[in-house]
Amino acid sequence: MDEAEFDKFADEYRSLHAANIKLSGEDPEYFAEYKIVDIAAELGRDGIVARHVLDFGAGVGYSVPFFARHMPATRVTCLDVSRKSLEVGAARHGAAAEFVHFDGRGIPYPDGTFEAALASCVFHHIPHEEHVSLLEEIRRVLKPGGKLFVFEHNPLNPLTRHAVNTCEFDEHAKLVPATTMRRRAREAGFAAADVRYRIFFPHALRGLRPLEAKLTWLPAGAQYYVAARKAS
Ligand SMILES: C[S@@+](CC[C@H](N)C(=O)[O-])C[C@H]1O[C@@H](n2cnc3c(N)ncnc32)[C@H](O)[C@@H]1O
Repeated sequence: MDEAEFDKFADEYRSLHAANIKLSGEDPEYFAEYKIVDIAAELGRDGIVARHVLDFGAGVGYSVPFFARHMPATRVTCLDVSRKSLEVGAARHGAAAEFVHFDGRGIPYPDGTFEAALASCVFHHIPHEEHVSLLEEIRRVLKPGGKLFVFEHNPLNPLTRHAVNTCEFDEHAKLVPATTMRRRAREAGFAAADVRYRIFFPHALRGLRPLEAKLTWLPAGAQYYVAARKAS
């Protein structure tokens, strides 16, 4: 069986992650949930009913309980190159999502299968020269009008850089600036690719978080996402 980098982290992924983000005062679930809340809000604003969503690089399936909570009518397909992560995910959440192996090249679904796709903290683990072709492959399996959401760590934020530099499973990570990721989404044929910065305040300053909705333009957030649309 082929080995993927994340096979060796699958069992202890949550504890490694929790230790790494300790400075934020939040747990991994906080970081998983805000993404699905944002996606649900964006799809709602665009009037998109997502019957089937692709979680590209889903790992052990962090997103699954939050799709169940915030988009209960949506079927979720978790795709990953790490068979071990998929096994752990399926054991935890197999009743709520499907866990499917990805060979790193072709997504095993026909054109136009999904209304939306998510990639959460995945692209910094993939060689940069593969980004555009993988984004093209995700675009292929989206329906016309479908949306892509690429969440990434913001390399402009010093606390984020510190967290990545001290994280065991980020040893080979190469962070992607938001404007680069937006350009790559456009190169892959996506339209209306926008950047939104996220996560400005740690738990201790959580009272200020309502302001975050007005700060998405500010390149200081710990994370960002690129929201892009498949025009045709
Ligand atoms: C940091 S984990 C993120 C997992 C999950 N998205 C989350 O938010 O918790 C990165 C994941 O990307 C996966 N990955 C790495 N290279 C990949 C590729 N070429 N295609 C799909 N997934 C990949 C890894 O196996 C790992 O599960």
